Amino acid sequence: MPCFDVVIVGAGAAGLFCAAQAGQRGLKVLVLDHASRVAEKIRISGGGRCNFTNRHLDVRSSHQHYLGQNPQFARSALSRFTPQDFIDLVQQGGIAFHEKHKGQLFADHSAQDIIGLLLDACAQAGVQRWQPCAIGAITAEASTPSSSSRYRLHTAQGVVQTHNLVVATGGLSIPKIGASDLGYRIAKQFGLPIVPTRPGLVPLRFAGDDWAPYASLAGVALPVRIRTGEKKQAMAFDEDLLFTHRGLSGPAILQISSYWQPGQALHIDLLPQLDISAALQEAKASSKKLLPNVLAQWLPGRLADAWCQQDAAWQGPVNQCSDKALAQLAQSLSRWQLTPSGTEGYAKAEVTIGGVSTQALSQQSMEAKNQPGLFFIGEVVDITGWLGGFNFQWAWASAYACAQALAAGRA
Ligand code: FDA
Repeated sequence: MPCFDVVIVGAGAAGLFCAAQAGQRGLKVLVLDHASRVAEKIRISGGGRCNFTNRHLDVRSSHQHYLGQNPQFARSALSRFTPQDFIDLVQQGGIAFHEKHKGQLFADHSAQDIIGLLLDACAQAGVQRWQPCAIGAITAEASTPSSSSRYRLHTAQGVVQTHNLVVATGGLSIPKIGASDLGYRIAKQFGLPIVPTRPGLVPLRFAGDDWAPYASLAGVALPVRIRTGEKKQAMAFDEDLLFTHRGLSGPAILQISSYWQPGQALHIDLLPQLDISAALQEAKASSKKLLPNVLAQWLPGRLADAWCQQDAAWQGPVNQCSDKALAQLAQSLSRWQLTPSGTEGYAKAEVTIGGVSTQALSQQSMEAKNQPGLFFIGEVVDITGWLGGFNFQWAWASAYACAQALAAGRA
């Protein structure tokens, strides 16, 4: 029966990086994945160009860019493998990249370059990979001083033994490319608690009647300020908003969706850079244009038209509008309030919030506190990043911490 130092379940970002790092440190590593294609999420990420990290990550206050019951848990790993460390690898691999927006780094050509980098590193480190390979029962072996194996895995390609088992199965998002709940089931089997999961970085939907006035706006995009929650729980982002057929998407919505709770309202300022009350008063004093045309100076034309159709008082020439109507229009634009009926679910979510509780893991090594030789890394853990490369950075950093611990034999 084949026996390994480390078996890693999941050939995604975290699994491949951990495999390469552990292999480079002399460990005998096997990676298993039930999908036929490797690292599918990297391939589709960042619009096919993979936003592989974010320069703005501040490891001293990582909780800023991460969610979870204890976002501080991520600090240890993130400070030991930083965005610059991954940038160095990308540069050594000769991959051209660029910064797009707010510290987000993308490959110039293709996400395949990042996959190639990981696969080359695995090959050089002698990592074995069985794929596609379904995984069945996993059992812990009774440990004896002479035995080097602590786990036995029944797989479609036979039974394997391993001293260490690393679970890198990711979250539940996009099941059609391989996402499954296996990681959570393994955690439960070994008595680790799971923080309830929900879709994150996901478009939001609205009930048919609420959405009717905006249904014709699909494709319209504009920069907004968006907020949800109250007082200490409030969260706000300045990002682009995109109207879709069924609701709202774009970076502003994806970011806020991770903080939005069912039943809560969203508060949107459609013109965050403008004092719209003053601008409308100025227009009234100097123009005879129809209000939709006045608004079209600052908003996409289709949105200006649809917005003014909501009230007969907003359709005439601006100089004939009452101050009250203009004030109401200004308020509606700067304090648009609407309550989503739900999210587009895991089928459209970029990430899964929740997962294996950090309370049950060592922040140094990612090893289960109650189960020697069992590790959880990447998105399967209850650590979720903001949009913008923070999720891959967590995958790299948690994988690196795990590989370091495996090699040091601290595990
Ligand atoms: P990942 O999901 O990458 O890998 C898990 C692996 O486990 C998969 O290969 C899967 O097949 C395997 N697996 C699952 N169940 C299994 C089972 N039962 N048996 C065997 N194998 C199993 N993040 C970011 O930082 N920048 C970005 O640009 C993007 N863009 C983006 C776009 C889209 C459309 C999505 C869906 C997601 C992103 N993300 C992102 C998020 C990012 O892709 C995600 O956080 C990481 O891929 C997580 O890495 P993991 O290795 O933890 O899981």
